[in-house]
Amino acid sequence: MKIDVLLGLQWGDEGKGKIVDVLTPKYEIIARFQGGPNAGHTLEFNNIKHVLHTIPSGIFHDEKINIIGNGVVIDPVILMNEIIEAEKVGANLKNNLYISRKAQLIMPSHRMLDQAYEENKADNKIGSTLKGIGPAYTDKTARIAIRIGDVFFDDFIDKYNSTKAHHNKIFKGYGFKGNNDDYEQKWFRAIEFLKEFKYIDSEKFINDALKTKHSILAEGAQGTLLDIDFGSYPFVTSSNTTSSGVCTGLGVSPHKIGQVFGICKAYCTRVGGGPFPTELHDNDGQTLRDNGNEYGSTTGRPRRCGWLDMVALKYAIMLNGVNKLIITKVDVLSGFETIKVAIGYKINGKIINHFPYEMTDDIEPVYEELPGWKTDITNCKKMEDLPVELRNYIKYLEVQTGVKVKYLSVGPDRIQTIKIK
Ligand code: GDP
Ligand code: IMO
Ligand code: MG
Repeated sequence: MKIDVLLGLQWGDEGKGKIVDVLTPKYEIIARFQGGPNAGHTLEFNNIKHVLHTIPSGIFHDEKINIIGNGVVIDPVILMNEIIEAEKVGANLKNNLYISRKAQLIMPSHRMLDQAYEENKADNKIGSTLKGIGPAYTDKTARIAIRIGDVFFDDFIDKYNSTKAHHNKIFKGYGFKGNNDDYEQKWFRAIEFLKEFKYIDSEKFINDALKTKHSILAEGAQGTLLDIDFGSYPFVTSSNTTSSGVCTGLGVSPHKIGQVFGICKAYCTRVGGGPFPTELHDNDGQTLRDNGNEYGSTTGRPRRCGWLDMVALKYAIMLNGVNKLIITKVDVLSGFETIKVAIGYKINGKIINHFPYEMTDDIEPVYEELPGWKTDITNCKKMEDLPVELRNYIKYLEVQTGVKVKYLSVGPDRIQTIKIK
């Protein structure tokens, strides 16, 4: 048995939460492998919308095991609140949520460090979600982090205080005078709350599950272009969002990776700073934002919007070994006379068709234009119901990428999903 993977191919918010929820009936276990509460994964069913940050998106299905893997960074306050919200709508977290002992904790001082680092940047701010993600992963690499399994040992407070003292020295250097005493109190209360849940060595649990033929879907957070190694550095997050992150974030070998579902929107969005070659600053950009309700699930910030970037998409497919594509938010394109797709970048008068070393602001996209469609597709249930222009657009994407499109999403609800045979 192999572990399937679903991950984002753009700058995040591709609709991972919705599609993981749609695919969950096919699997017994859903496992998050990286990221933390910088993620906001939205699910909609029965006219209710749920936003998850740390909990895998399979949680609203009974009897499915949801694992927070070792590669995830956990803010106990945010996780506690998520658990309480999910329990209100009937999810059984006590039974179905398993947390890796090796998942790392985001400390209150990590959130403050995030703020201090961002404030200290002049005009190249990353636009971090300020959830403490970067500083938490930094401490993991620096080998001074605390893991959630540590909370069950007597020296937990000593470890906490030692890392906090290190952070205080950094604050002094920055002259940063923030205060997080309130958050610290909530944080320790949340730690007590979380002790009641199930803790596992997720690498052993997952490998045993594969050996005994249980089906697993690994859920990514963020997107490939935010990957710490391969994204538009330094405007990235601090984890490997690509399929390699599954091996380190869950403890499975590369041999055990099965299908790789790559998910992308039919256009592009980005929140925060950094280059975005196909970004639109005109009415078309605003139409995409309005029709797609492009406001951040975690921070509420308006998302920057633009046309699909085929150069970046091909790069993302290569990095992840994507063998099944999922295209979301296709309904948002309804109404456009024509739809543009960037197939090259013009830099200093030269056209390239690969993702460059440095993604600068002066990249000019080279577009191909395809006919749009005017009909409302949000109630379509199968390919044959869709306008011919959209079916041609999907064919075009398959030819360009060399990968079959397996699912189309035509609205935010679970049921607004078309499976392509
Ligand atoms: P994630 O981070 O990848 O899980 O994506 P987000 O939840 O942050 O953002 C995706 C947004 O688009 C959410 O508000 C979803 O409810 C919504 N959404 C997902 N798929 C579709 C779709 O096919 N059409 C429309 N109109 N909205 C969608
Ligand atoms: P999901 O899983 C979109 C962006 C932030 C910022 C950069 C670094 O919902 O797709 P960080 O908080 O990690 O220091 O922020 O990455 N970012 C996301 N953008 N979706 C996300 O997650 C994101 N998580 C982080 O906006 O530009
Ligand atoms: Mg999101």
